[in-house]
Amino acid sequence: DAGKGEYDHYMAKEIDTQPTALSNTIEGRVEDGNVAFEDLPTGTFADVETVQFVACGTSYHAAMYGNQLLRSAGVRADVLRASEYDQTAGPVDENTLVVAVTQSGETADTLDAVRKATDRGARSLAVTNVVGSTAAREADDAIYIRAGPEVGVAATKTFSSQAVTLALLTQRIAADVPTATPVDDREAMLEALEDLPEHVETVLETTNAESLAREYFDSDSYFFIGNGLGHSVALEGALKFKEITYEHAEGFASGELKHGPLALVTPETPLFAVATGGDDEKTKTNAIEARTRGAPIIAVAPDDHPLADAADWQLSIPDTHPVWAGLLANVQLQLVSYHAAALLDRPIDKPRNLAKSVTVE
Ligand code: G6P
Repeated sequence: DAGKGEYDHYMAKEIDTQPTALSNTIEGRVEDGNVAFEDLPTGTFADVETVQFVACGTSYHAAMYGNQLLRSAGVRADVLRASEYDQTAGPVDENTLVVAVTQSGETADTLDAVRKATDRGARSLAVTNVVGSTAAREADDAIYIRAGPEVGVAATKTFSSQAVTLALLTQRIAADVPTATPVDDREAMLEALEDLPEHVETVLETTNAESLAREYFDSDSYFFIGNGLGHSVALEGALKFKEITYEHAEGFASGELKHGPLALVTPETPLFAVATGGDDEKTKTNAIEARTRGAPIIAVAPDDHPLADAADWQLSIPDTHPVWAGLLANVQLQLVSYHAAALLDRPIDKPRNLAKSVTVE
């Protein structure tokens, strides 16, 4: 298959080309400390009172990223599973902005949620990878994540590009909404973004994910924990792992581990603890709890992070702003899933029962 080039799988290629994808995502969107999107001039979001992110699967995890960042900037926001929109949407009116996060722009549940919101007067914005997709055509506005075509069923580079696009969008929205309180270190965050493609390159060049996968690929179950932005990365890490390895994997908010999942923790259940250099205390204490029960702990963390000392293994991430650290952790987790699936001889690019885009409800 010519499109794979030197790679055994599209997924490997798509993981490996993330530095380029991310450079394209970012290009021209941060100017003099401000975020700019073509066709969305200053003031575009001045009437927005509430934002609802709607999405499925991996895109939902990227949407969690956007939701948390928008809330930290003082804007009312929710992240809703598109398939649950009827039950969870709550009040919607013309001051609601519904943001459809969908790589393909064709996911039936997401399109349906947007149509329901717009029927009730909401304004809509599609964040998608595919120019001319249904979401892009139907929404009032569209922003492209510019990740390039993704062939592997398991989303990789599109998650990274979505999360970055949404992080930028949140700053753009917060700049317009009169009641917003833009985050203090906004400038540092935007500056650090410039280095993200290079940091991803460092992860790709130095990762020990393959040795780690070799050590643990025949375990009973795999758990992933993280706090705040790290929580969305933990959920995405577990989803990727189960999709392509067919092994049982679950992600949790770090603080929730002790409220049930801890009953499943044994020496045969490796636990990946995602640290972003932000609010990681709960991740550390809960990882230590799991370790006391014999679980091998893998810290996905910067080198000098306290979690790394408390762990059996480390997947190292370069030092950066906490908002971007989670995306570097996610690249390490993509690599672990990929190598574990390769060792188990799974059909990595086309896992059984799954489709790249689900066009039925
Ligand atoms: C399918 C794919 C997932 C994807 C989800 C949402 O389930 O297998 O990888 O995250 O659809 O797709 P979308 O195109 O809306 O981002």
